Order: sequence, then structure tokens, then C-alpha cells
Amino acid sequence: MLFITLFVIMNCCMVSYGGNFYQEFDLNWGGNRAKIFNGGQLLSLSLDKASGSGFLSKKEYLFGRIDMQLKLVVGNSAGTVTSYYLSSQGPTHDEIDFEFLGNVTGEPYILHTNVYSQGKGDREQQFYLWFDPTKNFHTYSIIWKPQHIM
Ligand SMILES: *[C@@H]1O[C@H](CO)[C@@H](O)[C@H](O)[C@H]1NC(C)=O
Repeated sequence: MLFITLFVIMNCCMVSYGGNFYQEFDLNWGGNRAKIFNGGQLLSLSLDKASGSGFLSKKEYLFGRIDMQLKLVVGNSAGTVTSYYLSSQGPTHDEIDFEFLGNVTGEPYILHTNVYSQGKGDREQQFYLWFDPTKNFHTYSIIWKPQHIM
């Protein structure tokens, strides 16, 4: 059973959601740096010099497909991380990760993925995206089935 969470560490992005953020998620970190708009359809996560912001699903899930629409911060994003992950709790946790590592202006973000099973990770993979993730919303999906994870 995993919680869905998106944390923005020293970065800023916008997330759109087909349901209603108020009903399904808690803004659990970052105070007023996390804001909900359009009656629960759009979430903005931002940073200041102190910290970032994030949200966490109220429910836990066992298998499913999660489509997250994200638009990442434009310009100089070096040293920033936008991460979207599913995680259980406890010392031998399970986790499925998307992390977007920022870069200096004009250089590409790196997409970093990882999977943890019973506390063990070491399955990192890194990708360059074939589009600019700061120009528009793009959908990043995790398909989590009993047999495999895509
Ligand atoms: C930033 O871009 C440079 C040049 O493309 C690349 O070599 C480097 O790995 C990138 N750094 C990160 C953190 O994505």
C-alpha cells in the first residue's frame, strides 16, 4: 500500500488534476507555498529561499495507474529537485520515484527514476527528455501492476 506524494525541493511547478485536490490530497509541507486553484483542479507548488512544498494523498493504494501532469520551472533550475513518488511507510518501505533534476538556463533537465522494494533501491536510471518540460504540461505516468512496473 503506497501513498502518492509530490515534493518540490527548491523549485516550483504547476500540477493539474482531473479530480479534486481538496478531497484526495493534503498539502502536507510548505505552508502557503502550496496553493490550490480552479476549485481543486490546479495546484501550484513553489519555493522560497527557505524551503519548498508538497502534497500527499489521503488514501493508500495497492496497484494502479497514476498520471501526473507537471510543468517544471523555466530558466535556471540548477540544484533543484522536483520529485513525484509513491511510497509506503516504515524502515523496509517500497517506493516508485520520478525525480526531475534541474539545470542551469539552456541546459536540459535530467529525469531520474528509481524503485525500492522492501527498503532496497539501487535501480536508478537517468534520462534526457525529448521535449522541454518547462514549456507545457506533460503527463508522467506510473503503471503499477502485480507483475511489473512501467
Ligand atoms: C546539465 O546539462 C549538462 C549539459 O547537457 C549535462 O552534462 C549535465 O549532466 C546536466 N546536469 C544535470 C544535473 O542535469
